[in-house]
Amino acid sequence: MASTQFQPIQGMSDIAPPDIALWQMIENRAREIFARYCFEEVRTPVLEKTELFSHSLGETTEVVTKEMYTLEDRGGRQLSLRPEGTAGVIRYIAGSGEAANNRLFYLGSMFRCERPQAGRKRQFHQIGVEAIGAPNPLADAEVIALQVHLLAAWGLEGAKVRLNTIGLPEDRAAVIKGLREAIRPHLNELPEDAQQRFKTNVLRLLDSKDEAVQKVVAKVPPVIEFMSAESRAYLDAVIKTLKQLEIDVEVDASLVRGLDYYVHTVWEVVHGSLGAQNALSGGGRYRIEVGKKTFDGVGFAMGVERVITALEANGIGAAQFAPAPPVFIVSLGEAALNENLLLLQMLRQRGVACEMELSDRKVKAQMKRANKTGAKQVIIRGDTELEKGIFVLKDMKEGTQREVELPELMELL
Ligand code: HAM
Repeated sequence: MASTQFQPIQGMSDIAPPDIALWQMIENRAREIFARYCFEEVRTPVLEKTELFSHSLGETTEVVTKEMYTLEDRGGRQLSLRPEGTAGVIRYIAGSGEAANNRLFYLGSMFRCERPQAGRKRQFHQIGVEAIGAPNPLADAEVIALQVHLLAAWGLEGAKVRLNTIGLPEDRAAVIKGLREAIRPHLNELPEDAQQRFKTNVLRLLDSKDEAVQKVVAKVPPVIEFMSAESRAYLDAVIKTLKQLEIDVEVDASLVRGLDYYVHTVWEVVHGSLGAQNALSGGGRYRIEVGKKTFDGVGFAMGVERVITALEANGIGAAQFAPAPPVFIVSLGEAALNENLLLLQMLRQRGVACEMELSDRKVKAQMKRANKTGAKQVIIRGDTELEKGIFVLKDMKEGTQREVELPELMELL
């Protein structure tokens, strides 16, 4: 029945069997890898004060100005569904002092009211990490190494890490001035909205998808040329460490990020299967003020929906991770039904996944259900089997069946 009555709202999806098996594989392997890097999980609320996001991500960023789901609660407070995970984690760290582990990971839903299109959802899921601590190129390289390790653990091939630097906040004025001077002679080659951007946020011209803009950007020196010696040295140290760790990255001067909290290193992981929304992940080093305190950290967040698209393009799908089929128990008559309940419990306690029909239905109906569960083995018991103390074990694939006693049954399952 194709009715919109039962559909989730636009840009949001139910994630259900059989697809869920791939999500679980992704999450389970991520947890394993995070444990090896000594990151622990944090779960922050999905709803936070709006000002937390506008302050941390930047008042003028697109995420804050156009994409947040914001509401007023009954007490008149402005709240927003989290559009990303970093701000909440830093709020948690700020509130918990020295006791908090400063290496944290999270898995969860994020919300951005964007125009839905391929690879862009309104509720999507991120797997992210935040390592809180003063700027240190080794820390950035370690987190990038973790990111690459994660991709390998999922079996994902063909992903590329693009790396750049935003420089220090103190460099920002010089970068903007340098870029404007370099672009100004080509201003009339830019479309009107890009000319507007030239005035409001010239950095965002660098990652524009517009061909005319890209042509101009190609003529402009890399942003690093406008940065301080300290910022350049920092990037060099990150690149050197990654080389030492044999991690391939592509330094890309046009990479800028859509959030304001970044300083120094930024990166994205891209994959050819993703089309226009080609970022599997975004990350970088950041500096966020909470109250009177400043927090430094480095982290990334991977978009799980996009990871799934890329895995599927690599031929990795949910079917490979489907749960093992259960054993199904068929009962003939009330007495067998009751005895089989005990058998069901015993098997489950021994670690066997099994299911049975809980009402006294016709054998045909029960076998139909057994088939639907995908069961490879079916145990059949009626009055005769009860009397003889045996079980009929049916092999669904071969279509054969034989009588077995309890010890053999246990061994076979
Ligand atoms: P972001 O680049 O805004 O960074 O998002 C990270 C990833 O989330 C993207 O690369 C993409 O895979 C996924 N994503 C974002 N928006 C959508 C959407 N509408 N639909 C589907 N997937 C989406 C951050 O969120 C930063 N908090 C990352 C970070 C952590 N930086 C430092 N620490």
